[in-house]
Amino acid sequence: MQKVLVTGAVGQIGSELTMYLRAQYGNDNVVAAGHRTKPSEKLKNSGPFEFINVGKMEDVDGIVKKYDIGTIYHLGAVLSAVGESKPQLCWDVNMNGLYNVMEAAREYKCAVFVPSSIAAFGPETPTDNTPQDTIQRANSMYGVTKVAGELLADYYYKRFDVDTRGVRYPGIISYETLPGGGTTDYAVEIFYEAIKKKSYTCFLKEDTMLDMMYMPDALKAAYDLMEADPSRLKHRNAFNLTAFNFTPAELAQKIKNYIPDFEMKYDVDPVRQGIADSWPNHMDDSCAKEEWGWLPAYDLDAMVKDMLEKLTVKLGKE
Ligand code: SER
Repeated sequence: MQKVLVTGAVGQIGSELTMYLRAQYGNDNVVAAGHRTKPSEKLKNSGPFEFINVGKMEDVDGIVKKYDIGTIYHLGAVLSAVGESKPQLCWDVNMNGLYNVMEAAREYKCAVFVPSSIAAFGPETPTDNTPQDTIQRANSMYGVTKVAGELLADYYYKRFDVDTRGVRYPGIISYETLPGGGTTDYAVEIFYEAIKKKSYTCFLKEDTMLDMMYMPDALKAAYDLMEADPSRLKHRNAFNLTAFNFTPAELAQKIKNYIPDFEMKYDVDPVRQGIADSWPNHMDDSCAKEEWGWLPAYDLDAMVKDMLEKLTVKLGKE
């Protein structure tokens, strides 16, 4: 078979997506590409691993040619909070990286998974039951790159027949690899601090409602969409996707059910609060359900229980 490439493979989603895809397609058939961060032993030893810079066309072209890549899961990106402190870097990595991936896909006829985000929405977007097709005036640099990325992916499909597909991920919660500089990171950090210190200081206000999802569902979504029957896809890119939504105060309460003396404090970061306030409370993901059978396995309670169990074991070993 033609091989699969995962960029951003050392990141929060990429590190787990690589292992998930290796289990589906065979270890040697999934090539992991990181930038500079050292990969885990598991990632490095279970299949091919390379360092590349997605911003360099020769790097992207080289790895696609070297391994005879047929599908690219392009996870390499700068997240929202880092994107606001380094907007030029965010544009460079997110846009030039995606452009290089699209060009390689055009030349070598690869399919491409393009992750977008709740960040592709903005303050004028309807916040509740946010429709699939609606106003997208994103006002963070990360959001600007996500809107442009959605359009670029649609363009490469229509103009060059590149098989592009993608979702708008909500905040992703996981225990394997920490997220790197996003606005929804609090929903991961809180579990580490709750187990280690029974206390967490949240950088978002207690009533900030955002869509979220547990990692196993995020991985399955990417795989299921790329395996879906294309004739059913009316939208190809940027499917709204969510599993549940909550506020920091609600998540803290759920954790208290297991750790009764857990204490939540707040020290609001105006930059990340501003970003979160421009994102929806809850997206309508019925198009993903209808067009390729999206159905999350984890609700909020199941996620909290599993996170606390898995992370307690992990942190106990460290
Ligand atoms: N989780 C991401 C972030 O907060 C959103 O795509 O940046």
